[in-house]
Amino acid sequence: MTAPPALDLTALVRPAVHAISSYIPAKVEPGAERVIKLDMNESPYGPSPRTRAALAGFVATQRYPSFDAIELRQHVAPYLGVPVEQVSAGAGLDDVLNNLMTLLIDPGDEIVISEPTFGVYRALASLRGGVTVDVPLTPAPDFTLRPEAILAAIGPRTKLVVICDPNNPTGNPFDPAAVERVVANAPCLVAIDEAYAEFAGTTAIGLMARHDNVCVLRTMSKFAGLAGMRVGYGAFPPALMPLLWRVTPAFCNLSAASQAAAVASLADLDYLRREVVGRIVADRDALAAGLRSIPGVEPFPSVTNFILARLPVAGAGPVVARLAARGVHVRYFGNPALGLRDCLRVSIGTPAEHAVFLDELQAALAAKGIAA
Ligand SMILES: Cc1ncc(COP(=O)(O)O)c(C=O)c1O
Repeated sequence: MTAPPALDLTALVRPAVHAISSYIPAKVEPGAERVIKLDMNESPYGPSPRTRAALAGFVATQRYPSFDAIELRQHVAPYLGVPVEQVSAGAGLDDVLNNLMTLLIDPGDEIVISEPTFGVYRALASLRGGVTVDVPLTPAPDFTLRPEAILAAIGPRTKLVVICDPNNPTGNPFDPAAVERVVANAPCLVAIDEAYAEFAGTTAIGLMARHDNVCVLRTMSKFAGLAGMRVGYGAFPPALMPLLWRVTPAFCNLSAASQAAAVASLADLDYLRREVVGRIVADRDALAAGLRSIPGVEPFPSVTNFILARLPVAGAGPVVARLAARGVHVRYFGNPALGLRDCLRVSIGTPAEHAVFLDELQAALAAKGIAA
């Protein structure tokens, strides 16, 4: 008997999966002496006191969570000011975005985004054979949304426009009139990703009362310090909800502990606003001043918990690598198409972390060969 030919399991995998590239997070060496993580826009302060208490007292692990995350959604609804029936949740905003793409995107369907922006939109669309049409923001330092160009880019296959407001990684908010212009005239769904809304203090949620083609997406990862618990949610038009439920996994993909943590955080908003958002905003402005004091470094204005800064180098890769080797992790955008190769993005950490980061950045820029 001849042996069957060796089976190439990778040949079974969909071409769309072969075509996308993997996200490579910053590598933190285990046991590293110093780890200052300013690369993922996490909160340096962790969860609120009520959330800590809820998690410490959480014991009901033998029970499945509520099928439709109802308690969490009941807390989200008044927070956003929308009916609970319009709220969906997921294991992080990435998961909510994933459900949205499953809902809308068939091979050949299009989404419109404005780069440089959050990379997950493009990746999730490509996984389904979707085509991403980029209508770039205006160049630095303004990074302005171009509503007319977005509307012109919408074709018969366009299902979704995604607007990240405030935008990651540029840190700026968009003109609300420009956002509404897109929503009012787009013959498709418009998703507003408000992952950083709590830092900006603005929201597009009011658009939902005036337009039936808009959804607003949020996360507990940033201002609430729950990145590790994975909780995101969104408010959607009523017409989509029954269909969105069909593609939402049971329990909204949320563990009971994650739901309890999010509920406790939404009951601790005063604390989060005062002790977390207030501090981060003040420290952000101090960090921007520190960056500006380094010759040639240009921080762009930010209303978020991170700052994009241009460095006086052709490519920021070696600077970011040197910082990482010294235990200071920030984000670098190497893809030339994004036009940010001379930039780094730094999350707002503690003042002590900023002091180390600024010292190390200054040293890296002064190091021989790096500025070439
Ligand atoms: C703009 C934007 N949207 C969504 C997310 C995903 O957030 P989550 O941690 O809730 O999945 C992030 C995380 O960095 C983000 O920056």
